[in-house]
Amino acid sequence: MKNLIVYSTRKGTSEKLAKMLADKLPGETKLANIKENPSVKGYDNVILGGAVLAGEIKNGMRKFAVSNLSELKNCQVALFCCCLSVDEIDQRLLH
Ligand SMILES: Cc1cc2nc3c(=O)[nH]c(=O)nc-3n(C[C@H](O)[C@H](O)[C@H](O)COP(=O)(O)O)c2cc1C
Repeated sequence: MKNLIVYSTRKGTSEKLAKMLADKLPGETKLANIKENPSVKGYDNVILGGAVLAGEIKNGMRKFAVSNLSELKNCQVALFCCCLSVDEIDQRLLH
């Protein structure tokens, strides 16, 4: 099983969480900062996540998801976010 975790971070918490997830996942896992604009081709599972800043997961995560949509439809996708307000999590991930 091949996994890709793409994260966006400002202060490093999301990167730390991405590394923790990578350690828990079975199979081969690649970690990539969204700044690297990684290819999602050839992965079974893709995890996208990052920090909520001013109400949004920023740093191009939405743009990345949209521009890779056709490939993402061929794999299992999971999302995570780091934020202060637990009440906002579902809303931000749906947004
Ligand atoms: C400028 C700024 C704006 C933030 N805005 C929000 C917000 O709107 N909602 C929230 O729940 N957390 C907010 N946070 C908290 C961050 O989401 C949280 O600290 C997160 O863990 C940072 O992740 P990072 O270390 O990967 O950048 C904000 C933090 C900063 C520095």
